[in-house]
Amino acid sequence: MIQSRRRWAIRSVVLVVLLLVSSLIAPSVGASEDLDELEQLLAIEEEDEGTGEVGISGKPSEAEVLKRAQGIVLELSNDNAKRVVDGNEFVLVLGYAPWCPRSAELMPRFAEAATALKEMGGRLVMAKLDAERHVKAASLLGIKGFPSLLFFQNGTAQPYTGGFAGEEIVIWAQKKTGSPVIRLKSTSAAEEFLRAHQTFAIGCFENFEGPEYEEFVKAAVADNNIQFAEVNDLNVAKVLSPDIKNGKHFLGLIKSEPEVFVEFGDVFEADKILRFIEFNKFPLVTTLTELNSARVFSSPINLQVFVFAGADDFKHLLSPLQDAARKYKTKIMFVYADSAEDNLSKPFLTLFGLEADNPVVTAFDSRTGAKYLLEWDLTPKNLDEFCSGLLHGTLTPYFKSESVPQTTGIVRKIVGRTFGPVIIDSSENVFLEVYSPWCIDCEATSKQVEKLAEHFKEVGSLIFGRIDASLNEHPKLQVENFPTLLFYPSGNKSNPVKLSKKTSFGGVVDFINKYVASEEVKALSTDETTKDEL
Ligand SMILES: *[C@@H]1O[C@H](CO)[C@@H](O)[C@H](O)[C@H]1NC(C)=O
Ligand SMILES: *[C@@H]1O[C@H](CO)[C@@H](O)[C@H](O)[C@H]1NC(C)=O
Ligand SMILES: *[C@@H]1O[C@H](CO)[C@@H](O)[C@H](O)[C@H]1NC(C)=O
Repeated sequence: MIQSRRRWAIRSVVLVVLLLVSSLIAPSVGASEDLDELEQLLAIEEEDEGTGEVGISGKPSEAEVLKRAQGIVLELSNDNAKRVVDGNEFVLVLGYAPWCPRSAELMPRFAEAATALKEMGGRLVMAKLDAERHVKAASLLGIKGFPSLLFFQNGTAQPYTGGFAGEEIVIWAQKKTGSPVIRLKSTSAAEEFLRAHQTFAIGCFENFEGPEYEEFVKAAVADNNIQFAEVNDLNVAKVLSPDIKNGKHFLGLIKSEPEVFVEFGDVFEADKILRFIEFNKFPLVTTLTELNSARVFSSPINLQVFVFAGADDFKHLLSPLQDAARKYKTKIMFVYADSAEDNLSKPFLTLFGLEADNPVVTAFDSRTGAKYLLEWDLTPKNLDEFCSGLLHGTLTPYFKSESVPQTTGIVRKIVGRTFGPVIIDSSENVFLEVYSPWCIDCEATSKQVEKLAEHFKEVGSLIFGRIDASLNEHPKLQVENFPTLLFYPSGNKSNPVKLSKKTSFGGVVDFINKYVASEEVKALSTDETTKDEL
């Protein structure tokens, strides 16, 4: 029972995550705007180079920058794809389709990455392929969806496991093409590095050699997202973070936020270093975006507190949230989603049956799939109690519910909060119809249930109920198809009998009679006065 409940709960969370992620990465046909944008992009690239178009400020205009960047990306076709991929040690290919808005979003980021990588002087060839126009090349390279990034080493495909922002593509490509760590030799180099990087790993090693250093480099290559830097001078390290006091060898993470430097305190082994990074790489409070959502959901920190609020409210919440995040570091992850961003916040709020008019604080335990809601005032003390309860497993999981109805009909409206008292704890037999608003057959079934209720209205030991499962939950109600008809015998509420939808009206009447009759007979033997009702 508990197992299946757990599985069910996990599935519901996984479903949300999938919904979210698919809405983020699934290519969708449409939006002529996106198409225009892409056509512009491609047109710019086809114009001849070096007309020296300059923006008013004297700096190159955006179009100019984009044009140059696009020029760095090699265009593949049926004719040259194989030659390019086989003939270079490292090639990163963007497979796109002209109609796909996600491709249009990724293309300038890809070009930006190509520019940065070229400046760094790497050996990576950045190329793109219109996979719709060059079907043969697309199939040869193994492009299956749009957009896709594929990485080739001497002609052999390797999975691309990096992020999709320009900066993330650069970091990943550097790691996999032989420059996994940036060495900072001077304070000015450190200052420049700091301007370009928000979160990074830092290692201090005297001569950049030895087994510990090798483990550090191994971790840098294996990690997919975080830039690694190395120093051997305390003064250079201090530029990166004044919190660094240790002049000998150390390893840590630096983040540009209140919690600046976290030092690694374990044995220098690649696995341990990677684990340290996974548990510490997020900021105290991570703002959820389309770009980082996949990474947030794959965090190894099982307990996550999600805060939904408008940007103005969040300004006041940030500091108390950071305090909590500091206290529960590496045990609870804190995520903020702007409630104005429907794509990000709606799927979560729907799980709780809430709108985000006011700040909402929720939590998830990804091991059990349980969800929690902070139902008290959002004060630092209450937030702390909520987090502490989450950590120690003493919070009551949240099940959504409509408000308790004031009136009752012949078929009673059951909600999450009344499911326990009316269905499970009552002494009557209960016939329950479970429906959802988007189910096609539900309305016809509802009419039949009304008729049944009418038929049995004189029987006091039988209650008819109906629950909208899209708005109401209860740990003992696990229904996946709608409508579902459940009969809860008075003496055995933990084992409801599921009726087949195909059962005829008469069949259901007979079924109910069997239970109710035996109940009434038992009642008769103890209490003669009910005789009249039969
Ligand atoms: C690619 O091939 C060259 C020449 O054979 C070789 O030196 C190099 O190590 C190979 N690179 C990779 C990443 O396999
Ligand atoms: C939300 O997603 C839809 C459909 O994928 C998209 O058209 C829309 O632009 C997105 N909105 C935001 C604010 O990202
Ligand atoms: C309750 O229902 C279960 C499953 O149908 C059955 O095995 C059990 O004997 C029932 N218990 C009683 C007290 O009727």
